[in-house]
Amino acid sequence: MSNAPLLNELSQRALAGLRQTPKCLPSMYFYDDEGSRLFQRIMRLPGYYLTEAEHEILAQQWPKLLDAFTPDGRPFKLIELGSGDGSKTLALCTAFLKARASFSYVPVDISAHALNSLLKAFEHNLPSLRVHPRMGDYFSGWQQPEHGQRQIVMFMGSNLGNLTLDEALTFLRQIRGHLRPGDGLLLGLDLMKNPHTLLAAYNDPEGVTAAFNLNLLRRLNRELGMNFQLERFSHYACYSPLDGAARSFLVSLDKQTVRSTRLDLQLQFEAGETIYTEQSQKYSPAMIRQLAQDSGFASALHLQDQQGRYGVSFWQAL
Ligand code: AVI
Repeated sequence: MSNAPLLNELSQRALAGLRQTPKCLPSMYFYDDEGSRLFQRIMRLPGYYLTEAEHEILAQQWPKLLDAFTPDGRPFKLIELGSGDGSKTLALCTAFLKARASFSYVPVDISAHALNSLLKAFEHNLPSLRVHPRMGDYFSGWQQPEHGQRQIVMFMGSNLGNLTLDEALTFLRQIRGHLRPGDGLLLGLDLMKNPHTLLAAYNDPEGVTAAFNLNLLRRLNRELGMNFQLERFSHYACYSPLDGAARSFLVSLDKQTVRSTRLDLQLQFEAGETIYTEQSQKYSPAMIRQLAQDSGFASALHLQDQQGRYGVSFWQAL
């Protein structure tokens, strides 16, 4: 394709996915402005229990986490990958400061807008906390702390679940590569559970997840000059208890051709053909222990919400 190099990396990946059989899109493509707004709404849906469960664990069990982060009370550096606007971590940092913990906070995110909001909120609410935001990808510009200070990396919100198990392992090993023995990793992970509960989280009656999924087509229309008609596609979510993966698709409702006015591209869809848009992996406690072991960590602490739906695991680098 002659004009493909003009596209950014994510759009090129989207294009490559649409040309594959079966068609797919990278789930990172969800998060344009409208997609990020819709995801904020998803997190408030009654059926999307993940956000509430993670919040409950951090709010009720933070003393155990603080004790695991710094058993001897020594200062540490808290690095949050994909911090967003920090609204979920503010409460945790507030609790740690009240307990007189000594730490600095390094939020890392690709969105300058999110990091600016974070800085404002932290300066206003926690003026004594040292916050050193880092904009960009997770690993470039990573600096080892001086004086052997302990690093604690956070990767929350079940974001690991949007990677395949192989990708997750590669990513966890990459994190391990930036840590020293004794440093820590805190992960928010959704757990395998009743398939009905899981399916409801990705197929809400309010239709917000459907709008989130369909917004991918709107983005393709805007950024790649495609002419997708959104009403000719529908959202489909399923959960497979065999491998613990919730998966989302867009289904073409009839046989149709979609074109780009900007690129030399024409896509044929059969009636019922799908675009695979997202995987949300759920884990069993045994899978979590295995992931830790395979990526160079020892699983040190595993917390769950009161209903046992969601886990926050703390691992120590070996
Ligand atoms: C961001 N991520 C962890 C969400 C999830 O649960 O996989 C994204 C999402 N997709 C549909 N609903 C929420």
